[in-house]
Amino acid sequence: MRFMLPNLANITPQLSYQYQQDNCAVLYFEQTQLKQLAQQYGTPLFVYSTQHIADSLSIYNQGLANHKHGIYYSVKVNSNIHILSLLHSLGAKFDVVSKGELQRVMYVGVAAKNCVFAGVGKTQDELLFAIQNDIGCINVESASELYRISELAQSINKIAPISLRINPNIDPKTHPYISTGLQENKFGILTKEAYELYQWAHGQPNLEIKGISCHIGSQLLDLSPLLQAAERVVEFAQSLQEIGIEIEHVDFGGGIGISYQQDESEKIAQLDWQNYFSNLTRIVPKDIAIHIEPGRSIVGNGGVLLTQVQYLKKQGELDFAIVDAAMNDLIRPALYQADHQVVELQQHVNDSVASKKFTVVGPVCETSDFLARDKELKIREGDYLAMLSAGAYSFCMSSNYNSRLRAAEVLISGEKNTLIRKRETFENMIANERIT
Ligand SMILES: Cc1ncc(COP(=O)(O)O)c(C=O)c1O
Repeated sequence: MRFMLPNLANITPQLSYQYQQDNCAVLYFEQTQLKQLAQQYGTPLFVYSTQHIADSLSIYNQGLANHKHGIYYSVKVNSNIHILSLLHSLGAKFDVVSKGELQRVMYVGVAAKNCVFAGVGKTQDELLFAIQNDIGCINVESASELYRISELAQSINKIAPISLRINPNIDPKTHPYISTGLQENKFGILTKEAYELYQWAHGQPNLEIKGISCHIGSQLLDLSPLLQAAERVVEFAQSLQEIGIEIEHVDFGGGIGISYQQDESEKIAQLDWQNYFSNLTRIVPKDIAIHIEPGRSIVGNGGVLLTQVQYLKKQGELDFAIVDAAMNDLIRPALYQADHQVVELQQHVNDSVASKKFTVVGPVCETSDFLARDKELKIREGDYLAMLSAGAYSFCMSSNYNSRLRAAEVLISGEKNTLIRKRETFENMIANERIT
């Protein structure tokens, strides 16, 4: 008799269990069997779905189809060059926050004019590089940065396109570490100061005012703060128009959340994207383009981290599953208390293994090295697990802590898979170190 399998489609539609025999089912991502992939490439292994990325991008393009718009994928979220190249082929533009990110997108054939340069601490070298390469727009975060851009543009006889990132002082109701639109955060410029800076910029021969930008936070499960911020930005644009300063675009940043857990997936299912897009296109006048910089909502649910159980250990009341992935691979649980869903790559019934609640931890020498708590799993040593929703802010935040080699990354499309980043080697890791 067949058994009930968890439905993962409300977290990631491309994930599903399929029966191998009546008492055994294996997890597929699109048409690729994940256990085979784990055995082929080893673990820890990040796997991404082409279909998921393409579908997520097209939700934005369809929602904004009736308004001039640009989707600037936020490179920091997952910056693998193959993913960037895929998004480029699908028509995305790019939001970068460092010279390195701009070099990544230029490396895959994107013109800098199709990029916006955001970030609170751009150096002189980074700004010069961006201006020299004809960046599409620099999202300016302070008065000092604005003055620096004007001087640099003048020194190389260029005109720098700019937008000021305003801080609308709106609570995005998200984790404090990813909340950016409040007065006490380091980001953006308060509107009163921004109003004066726009007037100053308007008179500068080496600056060209392009737009107004804002980004209030990430992993938002309620879209009303985003609409509130949009209203403030548009009101602000109108106040500039009244003094003769024209705005070509408004940039609302990123922020829309994804499901990490079943209970979040209910909230995500209730997110009224249609209402969000129709309000956004109503709030913004037709002659002003809408730019957005989504990241997490494009790739987050499109990735999984595969790991193998090394040891099972009972300690006091707790059952630990010690796996071969760790906080250096996925720091989100330790950094943001993120709760990723964990599932088995193979599910059995009628065997001797009992289902238990596990704390899933890695081998790093830190108590904070946990990947998940309180997860009902039916596992033996040697079994494989998938941590879901690991496409965003995951591999790109990984490190060599404990001299662990960075994981490999694979992109799947149907039943095809492509290794898009080789597993790091010891030689890669020490390449820049010297014994004098
Ligand atoms: C300026 C800016 N734009 C876009 C993003 C991407 O946000 P998200 O991944 O929430 O869509 C961020 C993330 O912090 C950001 O700071």
